[in-house]
Amino acid sequence: DYMKNRNPKNFPPTPFRLPFLGHIYLLDFKDPAVTVEKLSKRYGDIFGMHMGSMKFVIVNGMRLVKEVLVNQGDKFLDRPDIPVDEEVFSKIGLISSNGHLWKAQRRFTLSTLRNFGLGKRSLEERIQEECHYLVDAFRDEQGKPFNPQLKVTNAVSNVICSLIFGNRFEYHDEDFQSLLKLMYDTAVLHGAVTTQLYNNFPSIMKYVPGAHQTIFKNCRLLKNFMQEQINKHKEDWNPSESRDYIDSYLLEISKDRDSDTFQEEHLMACTLDLMFAGTETTSSTLRWALLFMATHPEIQARVQAEIDAVIGQARPPALEDRNNLHYTNAVIHEVQRKGNVIPFNAPRMATEDAYVDGYYIPKGTLIVANLTSLLLDKNEWKTPDTFNPEHFLKDGKFWKNEYFQPFSMGKRACLGELLARSELFLFFTSLLQKFTFQAPPDTTLNLQFTIGIAVAPKPYKICAVPR
Ligand code: HEM
Repeated sequence: DYMKNRNPKNFPPTPFRLPFLGHIYLLDFKDPAVTVEKLSKRYGDIFGMHMGSMKFVIVNGMRLVKEVLVNQGDKFLDRPDIPVDEEVFSKIGLISSNGHLWKAQRRFTLSTLRNFGLGKRSLEERIQEECHYLVDAFRDEQGKPFNPQLKVTNAVSNVICSLIFGNRFEYHDEDFQSLLKLMYDTAVLHGAVTTQLYNNFPSIMKYVPGAHQTIFKNCRLLKNFMQEQINKHKEDWNPSESRDYIDSYLLEISKDRDSDTFQEEHLMACTLDLMFAGTETTSSTLRWALLFMATHPEIQARVQAEIDAVIGQARPPALEDRNNLHYTNAVIHEVQRKGNVIPFNAPRMATEDAYVDGYYIPKGTLIVANLTSLLLDKNEWKTPDTFNPEHFLKDGKFWKNEYFQPFSMGKRACLGELLARSELFLFFTSLLQKFTFQAPPDTTLNLQFTIGIAVAPKPYKICAVPR
């Protein structure tokens, strides 16, 4: 119904739309960031878009992104209802829940992660142990070309698994590898046409084959895996000693039997959300890091020289070293800036009618805060499109630019930022301490990417030459 679809008065400017799949054709899926940049040049820092039955508003630039995520953050805290995500992340976990349930579970999760040593020693030790395994696995490749994706993803996922249920998995464990692949495929299938159709016509598409059916099947398998972990914990549960996240959550359930917040079904959703949110984001950032090092040998050499001077070769890197590794820290920040793995943030929704920059945003409108517009802002970075660690250095010391917001901003920003930053630092320095990364002979590495749950480099082979 065209009239029903018409924008309300004072809605942000909206490029013309199609009744079906609306502006999808405007998004050059090979590089949506470029498309959005073109649109914001033409329509301004805030504009509307339609995709199928979804109407959404994109905000660009620090002033408006901050307005939406921080200044008026309370009006844009919720996640929208996207039918396929109700199957994947479900509305009851950390990523897609809203209101009281979201708040209580988020608070619980943050404090639990802290108890397991975020910022304290024990988590650091878990990550260091995993760094050791990853270095060994890279050494096994003997400097020959290999694709680092599975090993890196397994290592990163092991850190989360160790927090959630106290286990790590060997890199050659085929069952676990296929589970990681299921997770990855599920994320990629989100972009499929049939998935988009499901989002628009769930009641019909439910009976039609397509990518969405594979997503549902994968999710059942992931749930079975997690249910096993939860069952094991229930069997040997000891309320006086919480070993991990599942134990702590079970304790919460037992304290609070009548509450509708802490329930076993919600526990399942939270643990799967932590796996989803924490694995591919961090893994793809590390894969960008290796690629940037191999394509910028002079920068890699400076990182290695700094590691040798501050840490040496005898002991493993520790989080404390970050204060003395200014150049290395700048390089990691630049990897995150240029890697830009979540370019458009996770979607939000207006929980009440709002005004942004004088435009009317009705309750229920989906909001996209364009993080790319900060990470690549032409006025803020000396060479926005070039990999350049000088962006994060002042007088040779590490310096953080406030436009660096890959984890988003405000009350619903990334819950795992501290964990992610600890992992990125320890994995990166541990690898650079022991290896030099190089393109395979007669090969030129490029920076092409694929879009799944995160923007990741296209699969590549690289040589990890022992130092
Ligand atoms: C949400 C980025 C790693 C857990 C988010 C969001 C972004 C983000 C942009 C959306 C925030 C918003 O809506 O404003 C990243 C990046 C990572 C990373 C770039 C790594 C380089 C992790 C890790 C964990 C994690 C390791 C595991 C604990 C979450 C969760 C949410 C989230 C649970 C949903 C938060 C909520 O809705 O309240 N992340 N993340 N992330 N992240 Fe991360």
